[in-house]
Amino acid sequence: MQPVLNYLKQNQPRFVAELCEFLRFPSVSAQPQHKNDMSACAEWLANHCRQIGLEAAVRATEGHPIVVAKTLRENHSPRPHFMVYGHYDVQPPDPLDLWTSPPFEPRIEGRSLFARGSTDNKGQHFAHLKAVEAYLKTGTPLPCDLTFVIEGEEEVGSKHLAKFLKTNRAELNCDAIVVSDTGMPDKKHPALTYGLRGIIAFEITLHGPSRDLHSGTFGGTVDNPAMALCQLLGKLRNKDGRIAIPHFYDDVESLSAYERAEFKRLPITGRQLQKLLGVKMLFGERGFSPAEQRSARPTFEINGLTSGYQGEGSKTIVPALARVKITCRLVPNQRPERIRKIVCDYLKRICPPTVRLEIEAGHGAEAYEVSPTSAHAQAALRALRSAFHREPVLLREGGSIPIVNEFKNVLGADTLLLGLALPEDNAHSPNEKFDLDNFENGQRMSAFLWRELSAL
Ligand code: BES
Ligand code: ZN
Repeated sequence: MQPVLNYLKQNQPRFVAELCEFLRFPSVSAQPQHKNDMSACAEWLANHCRQIGLEAAVRATEGHPIVVAKTLRENHSPRPHFMVYGHYDVQPPDPLDLWTSPPFEPRIEGRSLFARGSTDNKGQHFAHLKAVEAYLKTGTPLPCDLTFVIEGEEEVGSKHLAKFLKTNRAELNCDAIVVSDTGMPDKKHPALTYGLRGIIAFEITLHGPSRDLHSGTFGGTVDNPAMALCQLLGKLRNKDGRIAIPHFYDDVESLSAYERAEFKRLPITGRQLQKLLGVKMLFGERGFSPAEQRSARPTFEINGLTSGYQGEGSKTIVPALARVKITCRLVPNQRPERIRKIVCDYLKRICPPTVRLEIEAGHGAEAYEVSPTSAHAQAALRALRSAFHREPVLLREGGSIPIVNEFKNVLGADTLLLGLALPEDNAHSPNEKFDLDNFENGQRMSAFLWRELSAL
């Protein structure tokens, strides 16, 4: 083990330079104009995996390709087999003018590496690759077989990976999956995440007149779809922060006393959160703490809202349509398709007759829960302790990683969520960054993890 740790320590500057190369690809899965950047990024990654001694291939899907890289493994190897999952796709970098430096030109300041995708998720799975490199390049025997599955569609709902799992079930059959794509409450608290929220996404359009109209000539005689949409959306949440859609909470389980006590122990306070997020005041469902609101309660969120003229100056029109992008975060026991139906039915019921309602369904995934007391989880906690020299915490988090449910359904394996993102890393926001101490500790965590997991 010592040669592995020494290798990691000695090679940090090179690892950071390589990560910067990886971050230069604008691998934005949501935007069709980046299709070629997506495959170039996948090719670069597969090549890199080969350089460090893995067998790697770029596997085509109907969407963006998946990179699969493995340690060389004999058939019917008696060693345990673990999968590391990550994603090389990133969120759109917009709004660009809020970035201090361009999103795909990595910049280092102190111990922060700024770039879109640095923390979510290139830096995090790259840490695992560097740990394996350390084993392979120092001739230290790995106690297990490893397969890396790094996909390109996580940020858009992992549409094609589920099918890929089913088609390649035998090849991907493993004892557990390791994912570093979640967070830590702060630098002093490494974390094992044992719960994630689910999600449903959809887009609502209200169609008004067949074209934008002169608002002087026709304003006052037709409904304005932007106004109608605001009024519609306004009915969906009440002043206590509760979602005002009938039956929305029907299947939500109440929090146990144990969980509420655990939430209280988390290091971040409401005041700190308010400061970090730059809001005048926090807002959330009454009766729940901020920690509970953001990870254990469902939400209804507007992600984007558009209608009419968006350019400079004024334009006097009644817009032809208004559109909103919505996601709801779901908690355990809420079924995505049932919630989708509940929301759609209600929208249809309350939509005024003056506009035409169109609803386009997007991706969906159930919430995820895994035991934090299993032998695998305990091994992961030991690896976190050794790497960070700190006592780890157990987290329930608010984000979603849709594919972890499929890992359970298709491969029958649990996922260990060992994230390295800090709340101030600006994931999905301008000026995303990755903490270079977490990068290094993440590599050490991965190095310890294979030993701990394989000793069971
Ligand atoms: N890394 C996140 C997931 C995450 C965020 C987990 C915060 C825990 C805490 C991941 O890259 C992500 O953003 N997932 C999307 C999934 C969605 C597009 C289906 C999300 O949660 O919005
Ligand atoms: Zn993300």
